[in-house]
Amino acid sequence: MADSGAPGNDFPMKEAMRIVDLAMLRVPEAARLLVDSYAEHWPQAWPSYEDAVRRVEVALAGDGVNRIALDAADELVGWIGGEPAYHGRVWEIHPLAVRADHRGQGVGSMLVDDLEAIAAARGGLTLRVATDDPSGIGRDEGELYPDPVFALAAAMSRLRGHPFDFYRRLGFVPTGVVPDAHGRGRPDLLLARRIRKARRETNRSLRP
Ligand SMILES: CC(C)(COP(=O)(O)OP(=O)(O)OC[C@H]1O[C@@H](n2cnc3c(N)ncnc32)[C@H](O)[C@@H]1OP(=O)(O)O)[C@@H](O)C(=O)NCCC(=O)NCCS
Repeated sequence: MADSGAPGNDFPMKEAMRIVDLAMLRVPEAARLLVDSYAEHWPQAWPSYEDAVRRVEVALAGDGVNRIALDAADELVGWIGGEPAYHGRVWEIHPLAVRADHRGQGVGSMLVDDLEAIAAARGGLTLRVATDDPSGIGRDEGELYPDPVFALAAAMSRLRGHPFDFYRRLGFVPTGVVPDAHGRGRPDLLLARRIRKARRETNRSLRP
């Protein structure tokens, strides 16, 4: 497993929650989190628990960073993966998942900030993410072309409640769209955030 070399390493958080590197012994929990978290919008992403286990194992074998949030009972309640690209200047977030009963408390934001701190320490300049669009941008013939970026801007109000909106709240900005990435009429929506300089602690805290 790749050690993140995270600044501060185990990241202490309020409510006795902490962020640490994903370890092999957590594979079953991480796989279950993936299946449960993506079931609502993207059931095809990891149709079975076994698919998810393979995905976690591949993540652990790669050169990316995998960080998990553990609650007071030491249960895994969130996972963020980050892969370096462009010689480490750009870090791609994938996956990001927070257990349903822990959403809306700042866990997702803190996982993003934690990954950002690690990427910053390694010289990263940009965080980016691609999110599948279940709301139907590009479903109608001609809606995306000839100007996909304009089409994305025009359709943004349809994305309330979608992870696209979550990333925008965290300061990510739309950078583009990949038409038909997941089949005809199923684009990926792209966002990015400039990485702030390396620091040891997040300035966010958990909401009650
Ligand atoms: C998206 C996800 C990771 C957010 O995690 P979370 O811990 O609930 O997020 P936070 O509590 O840190 O929320 C941060 C901000 O985003 C907002 N937010 C969270 N989820 C949101 C959503 N789906 N739509 C719009 N805004 C959202 C919060 O209200 C909060 O806003 P505020 O700071 O203005 O109060 C979580 O809902 C999840 O795991 N979803 C299923 C898997 C998924 O969609 N992953 C992303 C795939 S690209």
